[in-house]
Amino acid sequence: MMCSDTVLRQLLPEQVAAVVIQEGIATQYPWTAGMYKDCLEAGYWVGALIERDTILGLAVVTSAVGEAHLLNMWVDLHRQGRGLGRTLLRAVIAHAEDTEASSLFLEVRLGNGRARNLYESVGFREIGLRKDYYPGVVGREDAVCMALNLKQAMRQG
Ligand SMILES: CC(C)(COP(=O)(O)OP(=O)(O)OC[C@H]1O[C@@H](n2cnc3c(N)ncnc32)[C@H](O)[C@@H]1OP(=O)(O)O)[C@@H](O)C(=O)NCCC(=O)NCCS
Repeated sequence: MMCSDTVLRQLLPEQVAAVVIQEGIATQYPWTAGMYKDCLEAGYWVGALIERDTILGLAVVTSAVGEAHLLNMWVDLHRQGRGLGRTLLRAVIAHAEDTEASSLFLEVRLGNGRARNLYESVGFREIGLRKDYYPGVVGREDAVCMALNLKQAMRQG
């Protein structure tokens, strides 16, 4: 549930620099400013969860021909573990449903148990593994591919 002074807004180009710094603190493998700018220019949904001008978390979704992809999602380091990730993920799912996608796909690092638990808890299922997909601290790390059937999720409410 989003609290009354929390809103979800499309990220503005002028917010990218601050977001990159914030994500660099929140995650080990942050996106670059160029990646955000490319997504904004391409018209992707870059949803920022905002409370009184402070960005609490962010998610990037692209949607085409009935399929949506969650490309990135993070919550501010100091606010993790308080339900904001779940709130953001619900907003992502609602957005994907609005685009009339029938499935929502994502890739997540094999070792990211926290994110995998969150995704599984809302109905995502593992559909495959991409070997050595991500750069790691040492060597490379596999990605788990996950999918959420939105038609089924909608039927189950
Ligand atoms: C993954 C992330 C977005 C989750 O956001 P969050 O606000 O911390 O998560 P929430 O408080 O909403 O918790 C949601 C669920 O995540 C899981 N979770 C949260 N903390 C966890 C932990 N320490 N260990 C395992 N699972 C955990 C649980 O399933 C939890 O649900 P529950 O509290 O009902 O049991 C956030 O931790 C984050 O930004 N991590 C760094 C970036 C990242 O890994 N992004 C995902 C890339 S695919």
